[in-house]
Amino acid sequence: MTALTSSPAWAALSRHRQDLGDTHMRDLFAADPGRFDAFSLEAAGLFLDYSKNRITKDTLGLLLDLARQQDVEGWRDRMFAGEPINLTENRAVLHTALRNRSDRPVRVKDRDVMPAVRAVLERMDAFATAVRDGVWTGYTGQPITDVVNIGIGGSDLGPVMVTEALKPFAHPHVALHFVSNVDGTHLAETLKWLDPDTTLFIVASKTFTTQETLTNAHSARRWFLDSAKDEAHVAKHFVAVSTNEAEVVKFGIDPANMFGFWDWVGGRYSLWSAIGLPIAIAIGPERFAELLSGAHAMDEHFRTAPLERNMPALLALLGVWYRNFWDASSIAVLPYDQYLHRFAAYLQQLDMESNGKSVTRDGQPVDHATGPALFGEPGTNGQHAFYQLIHQGTSLIPCDFIAPATTHNPIGAEAGAHHRILLSNVFAQAEALMRGKTAEEVRAEMTASGKLSQDEVEALVPHRVFPGNRPSNTILMKSLTPAALGALIALYEHKVFVQGIVWNINSFDQWGVELGKQLASTILPELEAGTKDGAHDASTAGLMAWWRANR
Ligand code: F6P
Repeated sequence: MTALTSSPAWAALSRHRQDLGDTHMRDLFAADPGRFDAFSLEAAGLFLDYSKNRITKDTLGLLLDLARQQDVEGWRDRMFAGEPINLTENRAVLHTALRNRSDRPVRVKDRDVMPAVRAVLERMDAFATAVRDGVWTGYTGQPITDVVNIGIGGSDLGPVMVTEALKPFAHPHVALHFVSNVDGTHLAETLKWLDPDTTLFIVASKTFTTQETLTNAHSARRWFLDSAKDEAHVAKHFVAVSTNEAEVVKFGIDPANMFGFWDWVGGRYSLWSAIGLPIAIAIGPERFAELLSGAHAMDEHFRTAPLERNMPALLALLGVWYRNFWDASSIAVLPYDQYLHRFAAYLQQLDMESNGKSVTRDGQPVDHATGPALFGEPGTNGQHAFYQLIHQGTSLIPCDFIAPATTHNPIGAEAGAHHRILLSNVFAQAEALMRGKTAEEVRAEMTASGKLSQDEVEALVPHRVFPGNRPSNTILMKSLTPAALGALIALYEHKVFVQGIVWNINSFDQWGVELGKQLASTILPELEAGTKDGAHDASTAGLMAWWRANR
C-alpha cells in the first residue's frame, strides 16, 4: 500500500464510508434544517451550495483531516511562493502571478516576475486597443475585421471558452475565430468567409513546435500570401504568442510582433498570459483586467481562507470522496448558461491533463484512483441527452450545476421568461437527483391519475422509480461577467490542484500525450511509402494498407 492508502486519514474515511452506507440525502435534509446554511458558502462573487452531497459534518471533518495530512496548505503556499513544484520539469507553477493584482512581488529563483508580467500585459493592452480601434491596419490600410487564433490545447481551449462566455462584451466589428484541429477542414472552413486584407492571425504556441499549430500557421500564411503576394506584408497580419523566440523567428514572424510568456505558465493555465491576447482583443483591456481581477479574488480566497471555508478545497475534497470512496469514475459539469457552452471542453483539459496520472510524485505506482473523466453540456440540452443515465443509470456521476442569477438576454413573452424557465430547470434537476422518487410516490401518482389498472401501475413502478441520493454542487453567480468568469475558472484550477496534492501526483506535467505524438511522426513518412514488415502491429499496418488502397 502507498503512504496515502495506508494513512490514518484514508483508513478513517474508508470506515466512515461503510458507516454511512445507504444513508439517503433526503433523510439528512429532513433531519437537519440547517443543512443548507452549514454546507454553503460565498467567495469571490460565487455562491456554492454543496449540501446535496452524501456527507455529514463528520465526513467533512475527515476529508479536512486528509487534506491536512497531505499538507495541502503547505503545497498551496509553495505554489504561490514560486517553488518548483512541477517536479518532473523542475518548474514553478505561477499562473497566479499572471493575475496578481496586488503589489506583492512574486519570485522565481529570487527574481520578481511581476515587472515582466506587467510589461507583457501593457503590450497586449496596447496591441488589443490598436486592433479594436482600427489603428492597427492590414497592409492595404484597412482595419482588421477578423482575428484567427491558431493554437491547440491550452493555446486554444481557454481563449475559445472565454471569448464565447463573454460574447456580450465583445467588440462589434472585430470577429474572433479559432483554428486548432490539424484536419484541414478546420482552417479551410474558417478562411472560406474571410478577406486576407482584413484578417489578422495570432499563432499561439507555448513551445512553437506543435505540429498541428505550425501546419495550420504555414497554410494560413500561404493563403494570405496567395492574395498579398509580398512577404513584407506578413508582419501586419501575423503575430505570435510563445515562450520560444527562436522558433517564432524561424517561422518568419518578427520578434517585435511576438508576445512572450514563461515556462512557469502551464499550457492549460495560460489564458491569463499573452495566450489571452484574442480575449483582450475581443473584450478589450479593461474587461480583460476584470477577468484577471476575478481570478485574483479567488486566488486570495484560496490562499487565505481556512480549509473548512475554502471553496476550491471543499470542491476538491468532495471530488476525492466520490472518486476514491464511492468509485465514481466520471463527473459532469453542467452550465445553465449558453455562453458557457465550451466550459466543459475547457475543463476537460484542465482536469484530465492535470490529474490523469498513475504514478506518485516520487514515481511509485498509485494504488488509488486519480482524476475522473469529465463531461458536460449546457443545460437544458444535456437534460434531453445524457441526464437519463445520471438519474437512473448504474454509475454514480457527481454533478456541478453552474448558473447566473441574471441573463444578458432577458427575452420572452414576459421579460426574463426564458431565464426563469432555465433556472427552474437547474434547481429542479439538482433536487430530483437528490430526492429521487420512491415506489410509493410513483404508485400514488399513477393511481391518482386514474388512467391505469392496478396491474399496469405495478408493471410500470420499477421503471419510474428514481433512486435519488445522487450528489451535486450548485455554483451561482449574479451575472456572467468577466470577473465572475475569472473567479469560476480559478475555482476549478485550484480544485484540480488540491486533488493532485491529495493524490500525491504531479498535476503540472503531461507526458501522457507524448507517445502518440512520437508514433505519429514515425507513421507520417510511412503512410505514402509503406512500412517494413514487422515495424507495426498487424492492426496498425493493416489500417495503413487499407488507407493506401482506398485514398
Ligand atoms: O496536449 C499537450 C500540450 O502540450 C498541452 O499541454 C498544450 O496546451 C498543447 O499541447 C499545446 O502546446 P503549445 O502551446 O506548445 O503549442
